[in-house]
Amino acid sequence: MVLHGRRIVLGVTGGIAAYKAVEVCRRLVDAGAHVVPVMTAGAEHFVGRTTLSALASEPVQTSLWDEASPIPHTRLGQQADLVLVAPATARLLAAYAAGLSTDLLTNTLLATRAPVIVCPAMHTEMWENPAVQDNLATLRRRGVQVVEPEEGRLAGGDSGKGRLAAPERIVAEVERVLGPKDLVGVHVVVSAGGTREPIDAVRVVANRSSGKQGYAIAAEALARGARVTLVTTVELPLPPGAVARPVETAAEMQAALDDLAPTADVVVMAAAVADFRPVHAADGKIKKEMGVPEIVLEPTPDILAGLGAAKRPGQVLVGFAAETSDLIANAESKLRRKNLDLIVANDVSAPGVGFQHDTNAVTIVRAGGDTITVSLTDKRAIARAVLDSVCDVRAALTSFDGTQP
Ligand code: C5P
Repeated sequence: MVLHGRRIVLGVTGGIAAYKAVEVCRRLVDAGAHVVPVMTAGAEHFVGRTTLSALASEPVQTSLWDEASPIPHTRLGQQADLVLVAPATARLLAAYAAGLSTDLLTNTLLATRAPVIVCPAMHTEMWENPAVQDNLATLRRRGVQVVEPEEGRLAGGDSGKGRLAAPERIVAEVERVLGPKDLVGVHVVVSAGGTREPIDAVRVVANRSSGKQGYAIAAEALARGARVTLVTTVELPLPPGAVARPVETAAEMQAALDDLAPTADVVVMAAAVADFRPVHAADGKIKKEMGVPEIVLEPTPDILAGLGAAKRPGQVLVGFAAETSDLIANAESKLRRKNLDLIVANDVSAPGVGFQHDTNAVTIVRAGGDTITVSLTDKRAIARAVLDSVCDVRAALTSFDGTQP
């Protein structure tokens, strides 16, 4: 949604990582962006222009002189919503820092007023060279966003810092730069996944939560400028920029949230916390030969209710309600009982909804009675709607008491 219809010039320069630009291009187009690829002469040694043209929204351009428009060197930059260079070689960084306009890409960079992201990729020695670092410092000072390279295997069997950032990190940065910035300076704590409560050394009481909805909320909050801590029971790829607090049981999740919530501006409890846990977990493995064990359960602490009772003025607390009947009535009762600002209710018995799916359909109920229904869509779109509501609540809190929440 954030990228829908946005015009992105994707500059590709001549490094071995140019093949990864193809994946970046595909992801941007899938997200709805209009991608205009520009390759340098060097890049053409590493990736075929047909490949990139086939995946992008327009054919690749490589030269100042190869298209009908008499002034492509300014047109591309002027029309862009964002210029992304991935990979950016040491040569490109130097030319851009010096203001040289030697080819179509450097011309475009000089002619644009849109935000620019560069994703350097080169051998470690080159990356660490003071000339390269000085050029990057110059570009950063001018407002250029830099997606730092990663440590890893490089061309020719070398290993070290200099490998192009993963495509998902690059796309996340594009979303962050182009997205609404309504959560800048806001600390959002999100819990995700189902808790696992030990029966013995190997067995657990668990549930079907995949954690995908919580991770989507974390990714969306990051894209909107928030600082995000994810209290998580699952090992999905961490959204770039999030800080993870891995936990397993309800008690561990409660300890992590009790630690984080006092300084959080927004807490979203997307985790499926077990309601019951075994009273005693056996130290070793319960042997089959000992017969069917009797497992006595006790209630877990209601973490969210505890956070609601301790809620600071200005803090926004969001709960989830997975229901199989009486969706809204049950959600409203939880909202009141747990002192929440918002509750996200989903009917987990409906097809494609909730646990383990990539899609969800929810009704967002706000304290005071407003409801917003979001029909079946991907979990990132649900995350967007939830955070839109969070921002509405924050804005209402500001106008109510005149202070910034
Ligand atoms: O009452 P119910 O368990 O349906 O409420 C669901 C909401 O409460 C979710 O946001 C879930 O993360 C939270 N919860 C909790 N601690 C529990 C049980 C649920 O924080 N022990």
